[in-house]
Amino acid sequence: MKPIRKAVFPVAGLGTRFLPATKAMPKEMLTVVDRPLIQHVVDEARQAGIEHCIFVTGRNKGVIEDHFDRQFELETTLLERGKKKEYELLMAELPAAGAASFTRQQSPLGLGHAVWCARDIVGDDPFAVVLPDVLVKAERGCLAQMIDAYNAIGRASNIIAVEEVPMERISSYGVVGIGKTHGKSFEITQMVEKPKREDAPSNLSITGRYILQPEIFGLLADQQKGAGGEIQLTDAMVRLSKTQPFYGVKFEGQSYDCGMKLGFLTANIAYALDRADIADELRAEIGKLLK
Ligand code: UTP
Repeated sequence: MKPIRKAVFPVAGLGTRFLPATKAMPKEMLTVVDRPLIQHVVDEARQAGIEHCIFVTGRNKGVIEDHFDRQFELETTLLERGKKKEYELLMAELPAAGAASFTRQQSPLGLGHAVWCARDIVGDDPFAVVLPDVLVKAERGCLAQMIDAYNAIGRASNIIAVEEVPMERISSYGVVGIGKTHGKSFEITQMVEKPKREDAPSNLSITGRYILQPEIFGLLADQQKGAGGEIQLTDAMVRLSKTQPFYGVKFEGQSYDCGMKLGFLTANIAYALDRADIADELRAEIGKLLK
């Protein structure tokens, strides 16, 4: 069984729910405390043993590429001013030469199409897909938990991170059906995009992290438009599930949907309350606001 070494980060969306913030700046560069969303998820991927990060970018997203490159002027200035700690932080976070690739999705035709744009760079290996607008705060990263499950299953399979959501909101999500349990994962019996409450096979929603076999690309190549007029990854996964097994992993940790204002603001508070340098003062400030 081939190991999971590559991760695809689709970052070509328009981020319309965050306008006007995202008019000239990519949504994926919005910060949670002092790290852009994209850096948070790259950290998670690296902790899971990912060696090559593939970013599917689009127009107005050049700053994401700059973020993962050297910044000679800044580095020189930091060193001149004796800010060695800040300099070392920047250097430690740089991807190794050749370990980050960037490709373009010229039109935002949907998540499935964005993933398909990475096909030549991924090649014939299983790979992870990580959505940068979903942050998972967990002791062991969500992707690492999924790779643990993948290795435990021990055969070429597809894995989807899932979590419980309230039934009254179920029709906003992709939802999975639950089959036999295998350790920390379970067989997925069906996948439905945005079902009516009465048609939902469970209360478990698909949560922005996937491990997929490369056969998905052949299906994405002729995938027709689905919900919202977009080429949906879920639709291609449904087709792949006819020939390959899919497993769900109910990860341990708290997810934040940072593609929505409420999730993004909550993530900022949750991550900040974990930071020794600001937590106490932040708690006091929140206390004052709530009085
Ligand atoms: P979203 O569904 O959140 O879409 O995409 P969006 O365009 O970013 O945001 P809204 O809904 O307009 O506010 C989830 C992830 O998939 C990427 C996005 O960049 C985001 O990281 N994506 C989405 C693409 O790369 N290409 C697409 O065509 C659509």
